[in-house]
Amino acid sequence: MYVCICHGVTEKDIKKAAKQGAQSLHDVKQMTGASSGCGSCADVALDILIESKQQTTPDFLQVIQPKLSIQTTA
Ligand code: FES
Repeated sequence: MYVCICHGVTEKDIKKAAKQGAQSLHDVKQMTGASSGCGSCADVALDILIESKQQTTPDFLQVIQPKLSIQTTA
């Protein structure tokens, strides 16, 4: 599914960026181009990033790792 029409960025691209270390919308913007045009995709891109981060850390690791801090500012 396309998330960012301005730059042709898909949900899969954002999930890949999350796996490669994106921690904020700014990181997603740098790595994929999403949200660097009109910006209307920013909320959806951030939601996908947060959801991806929650899915990539197994529950047992959350006991020993601090909660992820997702930056919402660009
Ligand atoms: S739709 Fe993503 S920047 Fe315009």
